[in-house]
Amino acid sequence: MRIVVTGATGQLGRLVVDALLADPAVPAGAVAAVVRNKEKAADLADRGVELRIADYSRPETLAGAFEAGDRVLLISGSEVGQRVPQHAAVIDAAKAAGVAQLAYTGVLGGPGADFDLAAEHKATEELILASGLPYTFLRNGWYSENYTDNLAPVLAHGAVVGNAGEGRIASATRADYAAAAAAVLTGPDEEHGRHLNRAYELSGDEAWSLAEYAAEIAARSGRPIAYTDVPAETHLEILTGAGVPEPFAAILVDVDEAIGRGALAVRTGDLARLISRPTTPIGTTVAEALKVMTV
Ligand SMILES: NC(=O)c1ccc[n+]([C@@H]2O[C@H](COP(=O)([O-])OP(=O)(O)OC[C@H]3O[C@@H](n4cnc5c(N)ncnc54)[C@H](OP(=O)(O)O)[C@@H]3O)[C@@H](O)[C@H]2O)c1
Repeated sequence: MRIVVTGATGQLGRLVVDALLADPAVPAGAVAAVVRNKEKAADLADRGVELRIADYSRPETLAGAFEAGDRVLLISGSEVGQRVPQHAAVIDAAKAAGVAQLAYTGVLGGPGADFDLAAEHKATEELILASGLPYTFLRNGWYSENYTDNLAPVLAHGAVVGNAGEGRIASATRADYAAAAAAVLTGPDEEHGRHLNRAYELSGDEAWSLAEYAAEIAARSGRPIAYTDVPAETHLEILTGAGVPEPFAAILVDVDEAIGRGALAVRTGDLARLISRPTTPIGTTVAEALKVMTV
């Protein structure tokens, strides 16, 4: 039995592997990484992690990705629009191997999430349920880094722009979500069993509005920054004008509308409970992002 992490060369996947290897009960040899690019995973191999090379888009490569009894984390793919057949291929391979757990990084709200980006996650959860495999749904809320990785234009223009109105976002860091993933993949069988066939709604302890986010950046950078709420069509024009491809810009505008409806403000406490500590406040993530900026 190994703990197998797909997408292990991605930002979340690397943090999951870090969290697993930080657990004294998990030797590096107990962890396997499913990656499509061996070179990108060389550092993981150097740390003793077994590499299994496979591409979600090429089902034949997934045949050797899993073994009977493995506890598997499927990290959702990044190719929006392709993900249902890609995830279906991973689920089929996991089923054929007879894995002991298939954990999946879905989206906060699960079947009730009503925005465009949620559709592929909902379809994936349905495929996992239909497979009959023991599952754990990690329904992740928004990463704080979705915002703090984009501070340069905010500082340049003195504005956070969006169409989310006064909607609030219960975000947490990728490291918080990664720690939760590691928590549901580890432990002796009898303790681990409590994570099977259940869904966790994962989000930050505190929810914040974009106006509060702008105020946080202003306070920590010493610059005047405000939130400008614009109509959806205007936001779409601003994003495409700044070079964001139209399909992705439309997704971002749709997400802001969902935030305005409160879809990403849900706070259940599941994340803090799983990681046995409070989630990382947005102010901390803003401060860390400002520290590494050169502007
Ligand atoms: N909750 C949120 O706020 C939020 C935000 C953005 C994304 N997400 C979702 O969460 C996932 C993880 O986030 P992240 O920040 O770690 O994204 P990321 O850095 O883009 O990582 C995505 C991972 O998926 C792998 N991957 C993509 N297509 C694949 C394929 N065809 N076959 C095999 N592996 C494939 C990538 O492999 P390579 O390393 O080879 O590229 C990468 O390791 C994303 O993929 C997306 O589904 C959530």
